[in-house]
Amino acid sequence: MYNITLILGDGIGPEVSYAAKRVIDATGIKINWDIKNAGEKTYNECGSLIPDDVYKSIEKNRVVLKGPITTPIGIGFRSLNVHLRKKYELFANIRPIRSIDGIESRYKNVDFTIFRENTEGLYIGIEEKINENEYNAIKKVTRKGSERIIRKAFEYAKEKQINKVTIAHKANILKLTDGFFLKIGREISKEYNDIMLEEVIIDNMCMQLVKNPENYKVIVTTNLYGDIISDLSAGFVGGLGLIPSANVGEDIAIFEAVHGSAPDIANMNIANPTALIRSSIMMLEYLNEYEIAIKIDNALKKLYLKGNVITKDLGGDATTKEFTDELIRIIQEEK
Ligand code: NAI
Ligand code: MG
Repeated sequence: MYNITLILGDGIGPEVSYAAKRVIDATGIKINWDIKNAGEKTYNECGSLIPDDVYKSIEKNRVVLKGPITTPIGIGFRSLNVHLRKKYELFANIRPIRSIDGIESRYKNVDFTIFRENTEGLYIGIEEKINENEYNAIKKVTRKGSERIIRKAFEYAKEKQINKVTIAHKANILKLTDGFFLKIGREISKEYNDIMLEEVIIDNMCMQLVKNPENYKVIVTTNLYGDIISDLSAGFVGGLGLIPSANVGEDIAIFEAVHGSAPDIANMNIANPTALIRSSIMMLEYLNEYEIAIKIDNALKKLYLKGNVITKDLGGDATTKEFTDELIRIIQEEK
């Protein structure tokens, strides 16, 4: 029996969160869900973006499945997500970009994973006003922050027997900050004899990705570059409705979709729950429940290959519920 915190979130959050929960429960795994909420709706209801019981639940259970959250502008945090990542030192944002057969895309056989540094870089949000016409922002790069994300990427490559890690940087211009990140990459790569370090400047990385995404397996980079190339890469494999992510620290992990709360389609029962379901697969792998993770992954592949129950974002007309029902039907058929 696992104890897992489920944060429903805003906008399409509750729809996709309950869909993911139903799919996981349908596999027969025993999970005691602690259902919580945080974000805009919670703020409007009780005056707090993250009520204390949410922190308590995260700290007790240490594994969280989370729907997207709307951070109201001008209240409290810069971003609630950035706050949680920082508070719990969830230093690795891991985003696998993988083609699914059956989904229309100009790109085939894309299969790489982005390791985005999640606690520093430009996201520390330290900005200053010099005068009416001049503003600065600070980019922070530390040895500790860089080592742990780069090592995580190398360890992943080692585990999956991948012989190349690509570091994306702008050290030619940001000689101190990105230069340091790159230097640490070179140091760490020496610990891994069988893995080559490939160095690519971030703007060139974007072009290389668009031309030949299949050339990459593991990409590690600082916070903002990682954010930008993840959305770019989502475009190779069918869009934001499909891309999962894990925010992993030493002993707490939050699994969530890359997409946001999509207020434009909230409460319409048309959101694609695939991204959060794939985030759940990452969560099951984190819990070493590989058999169940594979079961859900295979069912998703089957569903997309068959292609008759597809949500609107991918050109179909199935509702969130119809999609989830069909996925559960396939999972149960396999039992
Ligand atoms: P978004 O990802 O919510 O939406 C972008 C576009 O993609 C919209 O047209 C939306 O309808 C579509 N879309 C997104 N997810 C989809 C899904 N599962 N199925 C079908 N279509 C989907 O990004 P946007 O509009 O920039 O942000 C909306 C809100 O979400 C903002 O308040 C933002 O702060 C928040 N956000 C929260 C995140 C999180 O909690 N992890 C991450 C990103 C944004
Ligand atoms: Mg983003």
